[in-house]
Amino acid sequence: MRVVSGIQPTGSLHLGNYLGAIRNWVRMQDEMAQDGGQCLFFLADLHAISMPHVPADLRASTLEMTAALVACGVDPARSVLFNQAQVPAHAELQWLLGGTARMGWMNRMTQWKDKAGKNREGQSVALFTYPVLQAADVLLYQATHVPVGEDQKQHLELARDIAQKFNNDFCAADAPVFTLPEPIVPPEAARIMSLRDGSAKMSKSDPSDMSRINLADDPDTMSKKVKKAKTDPEPLPSDVAGLEGRADALNLVSIYAALAGISADAVLTQYGGQGFGVFKPALADLVVDVLGPIRQRFVELKEDRESLDAILARGAARAREIGGPTLKAAYDALGLIRG
Ligand code: TYM
Repeated sequence: MRVVSGIQPTGSLHLGNYLGAIRNWVRMQDEMAQDGGQCLFFLADLHAISMPHVPADLRASTLEMTAALVACGVDPARSVLFNQAQVPAHAELQWLLGGTARMGWMNRMTQWKDKAGKNREGQSVALFTYPVLQAADVLLYQATHVPVGEDQKQHLELARDIAQKFNNDFCAADAPVFTLPEPIVPPEAARIMSLRDGSAKMSKSDPSDMSRINLADDPDTMSKKVKKAKTDPEPLPSDVAGLEGRADALNLVSIYAALAGISADAVLTQYGGQGFGVFKPALADLVVDVLGPIRQRFVELKEDRESLDAILARGAARAREIGGPTLKAAYDALGLIRG
């Protein structure tokens, strides 16, 4: 098994990232230690330049996100942790896959449609070809499993399509260059929604900071954000079916369930019939209990620039080694001469 996943170092890590993806990274890392597999996790800094950005902020966020991942439990001694920019093979393979990926496939990507909106002509080429780089990220390492939130599933399906077409077009049937990766989406926290709008996903790019709980928030702020989350005046029902049409309430119950490691129905068995005046303080305490210690480690680590640089340099060296043979095989398959 080879587990590969990435996160964009834009803004700070939030509860959606943690419950939707990073917690699964750590679980899979711990499983791999027993099963002899390998995990590679990276900061998708090359993806981050597909949108307007401030270079100094990107540099700072890349280090800060590295500290956040380590604080969450990603262990650089057991997993390969690096940033894309230190591994040129990502960009190289993206170009090689660009001959296989089709315009029509890119046009169907919902993230492209959402981010570009009505102004497609004004977007960067990188925003359009973003999913090809994401395919390169995982195919370079022969990833078998890719832990992500629901919103990234479509990009992973595209990576499979690109791999399959490349293998069909350029490889002998018994010697494919690429492995088809499997997305792993946590059922209990596939899509954590905004605290201000239960129909929009919790996101780093939401202009309202009250919409998300950041790992960097102090416990009082976390608690305040939960207590101010948008809800409705009804008490909680006794099962999940009763939350139909109540997206904000469903989101808070789902967050509770994911943090407590129980089902949403089990949460409602406990809180059914109660109002948010009771439920929100309980949820706020739970958020602080789980994220508080992670935040503490994060605050300590993020100032240690030397250690963070060393972690990324060591991870990148290892990633370059692991990705080398696949990159070479892709050049060869395409008939490109490379000494
Ligand atoms: P990014 O940086 O937006 O998010 C990182 C991870 O967090 C998950 N996530 C969520 N899960 C549940 N609820 C939410 N509200 C929520 N918001 C974010 C995302 O699904 C993701 O798993 N394109 C990717 C980064 C990337 C990547 C890759 C991922 C680049 N190359 C290769 C996997 C494999 C992105 O922008 O994720």
